[in-house]
Amino acid sequence: MTCIIHITDLHFWNIVYNPFYLCNKRILGNLNLILRRHRYVHKERAQSFLQVLSEIQPDGILIGGDLTTTATREEFQQAANFLDQVSARCPAIYLLPGNHDYYTFESCRKHRFEHYCGKHAPISVDPVLSMLPGDISLIRIPTVRPNLITSRGFISEEQLTKVKKLLERKGPNPTLALAHYPVLSRTAHYHSGYDRRLGGASALRGILGHSGHPILYLAGHVHVFTHTMDPTYNNITHITTSALFYDKQKRRGGFTEIKVDAGTMRIFPWSYQDGWIRGVESHPAAEVPC
Ligand SMILES: [Fe+2]
Ligand SMILES: [Fe+2]
Repeated sequence: MTCIIHITDLHFWNIVYNPFYLCNKRILGNLNLILRRHRYVHKERAQSFLQVLSEIQPDGILIGGDLTTTATREEFQQAANFLDQVSARCPAIYLLPGNHDYYTFESCRKHRFEHYCGKHAPISVDPVLSMLPGDISLIRIPTVRPNLITSRGFISEEQLTKVKKLLERKGPNPTLALAHYPVLSRTAHYHSGYDRRLGGASALRGILGHSGHPILYLAGHVHVFTHTMDPTYNNITHITTSALFYDKQKRRGGFTEIKVDAGTMRIFPWSYQDGWIRGVESHPAAEVPC
């Protein structure tokens, strides 16, 4: 039995007061942080999460991006400190950036995500195939780039071709795909508007679907746990995982535990309700075509 943990959208935050650092998109994110977000991202839960991680003793941990909020050095330092402690409990870390980690062109140009987070796991702009413990294939699919205003994701033709080649190369073992953006823009539990969704999602979904491999596609970005069968491709199951430290109306913080045994994957969503609670096994909902 192999246990894999998926966490995403940690959104470590730090309010910026120096106007010099606010002459870009950060002015919007910082305002949102001051007015709203600082109230519902409970980063102080990091220690209790690490305690639970020690108890679970997973074989691997997947981190789906948005470790920061406006990609400042201070936020990345918080994220790096957290990764140090995760790594002490589970060295097999696989991660990729979210749109908030490339929040400004300046943070991207300075390779801040790679500098602070790359110590624990090599970061690539290309899709990468790795083998996880328990003979599980993992394809990490980078889908972010900085935007002037929007939160839109991006995958290039070249990256799509590489995903296709990686899938052709891999064996018939269980496959996880890790990305920041979901490839379904609408399910019963979330709807991503045009400026928040992944450009090229249909093409990526088509490549995954036509590969014929059973694929569990793990994403974040929408900050809610969902578990959905693909309406078109019966080999893809989609999971979006809650934002780890959230506590916002119906969107509780949480993470996803994936148990793999003899090629079968079982899904257990965890949530925070005055402490970390493991939910009952989740089964995918059928989704109507969109
Ligand atoms: Fe997020
Ligand atoms: Fe995001």
